[in-house]
Amino acid sequence: MKGIILAGGAGTRLHPMTLASSKQLLPVYDKPMIYYPLTTLMLAGIREFLLISTPQDLPAFRRVLGDGRKWGISIKYAVQERPEGIAHAYLIAEEFLGGEASALILGDNIFYGSGLAEKMTSARARPSGASLFAYQVHDPERYGVVEFEPTGRARSIVEKASGPPLSDWAVTGLYFYDARAADFARMLKPSARGELEITDLNRLYLELGELHVQQLGRGYAWLDAGTPESLLDAASFIQTLESRQRFKIACPEEIAFNMGWIDRLHLESLARAIPNTAYGKYLAWIASEARHPGLEEQRAIA
Ligand code: TTP
Repeated sequence: MKGIILAGGAGTRLHPMTLASSKQLLPVYDKPMIYYPLTTLMLAGIREFLLISTPQDLPAFRRVLGDGRKWGISIKYAVQERPEGIAHAYLIAEEFLGGEASALILGDNIFYGSGLAEKMTSARARPSGASLFAYQVHDPERYGVVEFEPTGRARSIVEKASGPPLSDWAVTGLYFYDARAADFARMLKPSARGELEITDLNRLYLELGELHVQQLGRGYAWLDAGTPESLLDAASFIQTLESRQRFKIACPEEIAFNMGWIDRLHLESLARAIPNTAYGKYLAWIASEARHPGLEEQRAIA
């Protein structure tokens, strides 16, 4: 399975912050926003990525992420000239996908919660169809929403409603598709706002009876950092968790190490590359924990 990260767009709601920088490169507390969606897909076990962004922002993404080798993954890049919609990503990614199944994540979406990796693994394991994740919000008018049958199956899916929303279950920016997604995306017509709508792609799967929607319950956080308020909320959320627990959220080096994609010596060299920073010290600590497991772990082993 391959991963697509869609990180274009104009970020108009964050002007003037986004006049010279991509929204997805703004900091969310201690790391660039793009680390969060990237690591979400890494936790799903994905190692091959295509990052799509605007012609002006792409060079900055390359500077931040490189070709991914430092994290045991591969990152390729493609341009979206204009924000022609989320489903448009599948026209751009067709060659990269080479007929494989894929996961798509939006560059400004942050997911947190234990059990998310398992939920993504079960989405990955489906041999065909599309899998989405829905989250109950108090402002559903801002999102595409999904309406459920009493059995829990998706009944309908609608893009940002002009009238009152049918449901308060927002469709999050994380989608798993089988190998047909690019073919289906080619069949879509632009909407009134001139975009290839991801909701229309999802509706094709729904009509085939092959749309699976998993609800993310109260144990999960889903944040999109598209407005000044939500950007600050996301940063505060991460800061609160990271200052209370010893672990960082969305640290690609740590995830790559835990997945066995890089070894301890490599992790130590990544830590040495940014000495005297909290981030570098954290990487060094993760590496040393692997060498000298913490007391708890030693007790468990004894
Ligand atoms: P939006 O938040 O809908 O759009 P935006 O990022 O341009 O922001 P604004 O509304 O403030 O102008 O996009 C959601 C995510 O999807 C975001 O990460 C950008 C990305 N995106 C693209 O990369 N290309 C597109 O064509 C669209 C519609 C979105």
